[in-house]
Amino acid sequence: MSSKIKLGILGGGGDSLIGVLHRVASSMFDRFELVGGVFNANLDESISFAEDIGLATHRIYKDLDTLIKEELALPQEERMQVVSILTPNFLHFPMAKQLLENGFHVICEKPLTTTYREAKILEETLKTSKTVFAVTYTYTGYPMVRQMKEMIAAGEIGNVQKVDVQYYQGWINDIIHDKEKRNTTWRLDPEKSGISCCVADIGTHAFGMIEFVSGLEIKEVLADLNYLYKDNRMDIDGTILLRFSQYVKGVIRTSQIATGEENNFTVSIYGDKAGLKWEQENPNYLYLLEDGQPMRVLKPGHSYNSKLSLDGTKLPPGHPEGIFDSMGNIYKGVAKAINKQDYHPGEFPTMKDGIRGMNFIEKAVESHQNGNVWTKIDN
Ligand SMILES: NC(=O)c1ccc[n+]([C@@H]2O[C@H](COP(=O)([O-])OP(=O)(O)OC[C@H]3O[C@@H](n4cnc5c(N)ncnc54)[C@H](O)[C@@H]3O)[C@@H](O)[C@H]2O)c1
Repeated sequence: MSSKIKLGILGGGGDSLIGVLHRVASSMFDRFELVGGVFNANLDESISFAEDIGLATHRIYKDLDTLIKEELALPQEERMQVVSILTPNFLHFPMAKQLLENGFHVICEKPLTTTYREAKILEETLKTSKTVFAVTYTYTGYPMVRQMKEMIAAGEIGNVQKVDVQYYQGWINDIIHDKEKRNTTWRLDPEKSGISCCVADIGTHAFGMIEFVSGLEIKEVLADLNYLYKDNRMDIDGTILLRFSQYVKGVIRTSQIATGEENNFTVSIYGDKAGLKWEQENPNYLYLLEDGQPMRVLKPGHSYNSKLSLDGTKLPPGHPEGIFDSMGNIYKGVAKAINKQDYHPGEFPTMKDGIRGMNFIEKAVESHQNGNVWTKIDN
């Protein structure tokens, strides 16, 4: 029998956006073997999808209750060890909780839950289950993002004094300007998505990224969100001012109505010695900016990169690393944790990152609703 970690997937069916990213990423370093799951709410569709991807169908279940019951009945060495949750947001909490209570490791898509309260309950559940829990803030796995983190930690840009992160997309234009579509998509339905669309979907990536690369915690936010239509209940654009301390400040600019933008996620961190800038659509370049000096461009795979960055590079310099590689690195880190091997804490985002993300979403919406006022993030 294969000694690979046995993986199950919830959601991520043929009709989904994110499923393929997780399947490819999980297979990238030969550490996981996909054995089954619940790909869709409809069993026939799940089975048909499993057949499409050449997966045996005897471990495709009708729902999570059945998956847990049947898997726990298998001998330990055959059992699913880790389950990835790739469903719409409202299912993350009940599914993750049930999996943790039954001893499974969990890889959960962001946002972690639909409320901060649920996230705190999950934290307690994890304490007793003592399993591995990862939240897929996908972009933290890129080699040059890891390099940015390590350079800032080593003091190469000096003390951080300004942060500017932009996450612009335009895809919701198609939905938001059509009354019927904006009232039927799950992403704009608070029951399925939570209290926010844009801040929860991509603002939370920006928040997690800033704390990941800078090593700093955001203490307060002031948000100005846009809903565009009276009958739309969820933000689809926002500008959020950030305070780390009295003298360290920044901004998250995030939008799903930035017409023509695709996935323009740009992270700029300025210290008192130098600045670092990274762009998701050109992820192999990390720009080092210094007053009065020509800009330098760092690239993956070179020996000048940190150990953490190099661990996320598979081929020699000149072979571009993309989004699949970034998620692959996160899965690799999770595999090390499950196998009880040494790993760098930056190899995958954790429950704590997921909880802070949820707190950020609620505080940004609260700040906006209270008239754009400074609102504290919990410690
Ligand atoms: N990390 C990232 O960069 C990133 C990118 C996109 C989406 N996401 C997150 O991934 C999650 C899914 O997003 P998506 O865009 O793939 O959504 P989607 O609507 O495209 O796909 C959702 C999938 O879940 C399935 N599903 C629904 N109910 C189910 C149930 N009860 N049991 C099993 N499967 C069920 C659907 O059939 C579908 O296959 C969301 O939480 C989203 O925020 C993360």
